[in-house]
Amino acid sequence: HTSRKLSHSEGGVRGAGRAAIAAPHLRTDRWWLQPAGTAAGLFAFIVYSTWRAFANADYYAAPYVSPFYSPCLAENCEPMKGGPNWEIFGSWWGLSPALLILIFPLGFRLTCYYYRKAYYRGFWASPPACAVAEPHKKYSGETKFPLVFQNMHRYFFYAAVPVAGILTYDTVLAFRDENYEWGHMGLGTLVFLVNIVLIWAYTLSCHSCRHIVGGKLKHFSKHPVRYRTWQWIGKLNARHMLLAWASLISVALADLYVYLVASGAFDDPRFF
Ligand code: FES
Repeated sequence: HTSRKLSHSEGGVRGAGRAAIAAPHLRTDRWWLQPAGTAAGLFAFIVYSTWRAFANADYYAAPYVSPFYSPCLAENCEPMKGGPNWEIFGSWWGLSPALLILIFPLGFRLTCYYYRKAYYRGFWASPPACAVAEPHKKYSGETKFPLVFQNMHRYFFYAAVPVAGILTYDTVLAFRDENYEWGHMGLGTLVFLVNIVLIWAYTLSCHSCRHIVGGKLKHFSKHPVRYRTWQWIGKLNARHMLLAWASLISVALADLYVYLVASGAFDDPRFF
């Protein structure tokens, strides 16, 4: 701790209080590999999901609805029988109905503690890796506009939980066949099952969730259920990065699966 408070502009590795080392960093390993891989992965997902969100087509193939398009909140979506269709936006909404709903999972992931680390490193080089100086001269952290909004993460968590609930409902509906008869299973049902398990695991492993469940307690002994839950969520939380990637890939694959079946590229193989 310093007794003097450093102002933001004094920060950074070229600041007056820092050792004068000329080399930009002293790492000899391929430190750039991880941020480059992260940036490439995130960029691929952004391109894919943007195309699919704006496509406004091929998101429904009975009994599957793409996770990008559920729930249906406008009149202009193809309604799934028995599915989560609430046309609260009525007929004036003319754009893709996915845009109405994707705001929530997008906000959740954008403000997620892990994704922040990932894109600060991958896209902004702030810093690109441990012990590698960032190119920026100033550092104001997340205290100013727009990054101060990262603090909204807890509220996006509250929104992400019902969205995961709706995707769970869609997974239950996937146990029908194309004529909406119950008690069937296809490859798509399996794809949806894997996806929903990963979505829940990612959502529940959230740092905000862990704090909501077990934070600010003075005596764990007085709250045995919260304590147990907190311990369990802590274990999931340790895998948060892995779950962030696994669920990002699985949600894109679930959408791609529906796209392939809906566009006629592929027939959903049925087990029974
Ligand atoms: Fe990643 Fe909350 S910290 S989802």
